[in-house]
Amino acid sequence: MLEPMDAFFKARIDGYDEHMLEEIGGAKVFYPFTAEQLPDGPVSVLDLGCGTGLELVPYRVRNPQAEITGIDLSQTMLDRLRARWPEDPKLHLICGSYLDLPLGDNRYDAAVSVESLHHFTPEEKLGLYRKLHRALKKDGFFLLTDYFAEGEAEERQYFQELRRLKEEQGVADETLCHYDTPLTVEHEMAVLREAGFAQVEVLERWENTCCVRAVH
Ligand SMILES: C[S@@+](CC[C@H](N)C(=O)[O-])C[C@H]1O[C@@H](n2cnc3c(N)ncnc32)[C@H](O)[C@@H]1O
Repeated sequence: MLEPMDAFFKARIDGYDEHMLEEIGGAKVFYPFTAEQLPDGPVSVLDLGCGTGLELVPYRVRNPQAEITGIDLSQTMLDRLRARWPEDPKLHLICGSYLDLPLGDNRYDAAVSVESLHHFTPEEKLGLYRKLHRALKKDGFFLLTDYFAEGEAEERQYFQELRRLKEEQGVADETLCHYDTPLTVEHEMAVLREAGFAQVEVLERWENTCCVRAVH
């Protein structure tokens, strides 16, 4: 059965970190790798779909000066993240969908998203990435670490299956469900370029997961 996104994570909060680190191929390497790419010093960093903050743990240890804004639609996940650093005044958490929330203009030195964006259509991503492009400072960059479809046939199959399940279960098309619909990395990079990012490249790969950097 399809589950709404926030209910899905609320039901799985206990054991979430262990599941990600132990069961997701490459996770023990891609979290620290992603964190290492984020900037040093008193910078402003945005995390889209921060969850419990697995990518933020190594970053915060290295850079206690950064102002970090985390957006997530699950309050349960955000509560776990806040519990890591209950007194940290430089950690700002916002509960809501990054697809709907304003991100501001010329505000962040860098943005990151790990294992969160593989649920959306290219059209939804284009709107988000245009907004993100405006929110980043000149020379700012976005790091996307996520898993990708192996080819176009697989990508099409995920979207078809989601449409079929929504019809079968009477779920409204606009309901945000936890069902993975990853794009191919080539399509993801094309959407980032269309949104205005000047330089888009794959920094590293681990099985189906890539770390993509898109420079403003
Ligand atoms: C698999 S978790 C990844 C969390 C964290 N980045 C990590 O790697 O452990 C996906 C997260 O994205 C969040 N998410 C999914 N869609 C979202 C949206 N539209 N807006 C904000 N958060 C979203 C979920 O609530 C969940 O916490």
